[in-house]
Amino acid sequence: MNLALFASGNGSNVQAIIDAVKAGEIAVNINCLVCDNPKAYVVKRAKDVGIDTLILSPKDCQSRQAWELEIIKYLEAHQVDLIILAGFMRIIGADILNHYPKKIINIHPSLLPAFPGRKGIQDAYNAGVKESGVTVHYVDAGIDTGEIIAQERLQIQPEWTLEKLENKIHQIEHSLYPKVIQQLAKEFNEKGINVK
Ligand code: GRF
Repeated sequence: MNLALFASGNGSNVQAIIDAVKAGEIAVNINCLVCDNPKAYVVKRAKDVGIDTLILSPKDCQSRQAWELEIIKYLEAHQVDLIILAGFMRIIGADILNHYPKKIINIHPSLLPAFPGRKGIQDAYNAGVKESGVTVHYVDAGIDTGEIIAQERLQIQPEWTLEKLENKIHQIEHSLYPKVIQQLAKEFNEKGINVK
């Protein structure tokens, strides 16, 4: 199964996936990275291991649709089977969604449907909930609304700072995402072309 990774920032989840592939824990090819921000650290991570990268922001294109069509062209050229969003800070629009139905997944740092949006960890922390966690889900037209594939829960201790919670959540992400990708790759290999 051929992956495209989409990321906009630090890329610690991208790194966890790269490391899991290197360690032989997931049997997939990382065919390319799509990034909307040339200054993102994830670009260096990909470069260091020779992953082909497309850096393209909607503002580099004539329209949002043109941006999506450019990305689709790139993904097709790289024979991508599954798109992995890992901190990609753009909404995936109709063209990409229709082109890759049920073939785009995302990781979110809360127990969805609780605390969707950009600040999942902070929102859970500020709400004072006793439990949070990580969700991996299919991507649909909504924000963090697609069908849930896997969740891992985390009990929040009263003395934890926000930083401590962030670290714990990221640790879970880095083990859960490779596991889910491996499960999907297994299904892909067993059933052929459909990931689901
Ligand atoms: C992660 O917390 C992920 O759940 C969210 O964005 C963050 C990306 O972090 N969607 P990184 O760039 O992988 O370090």
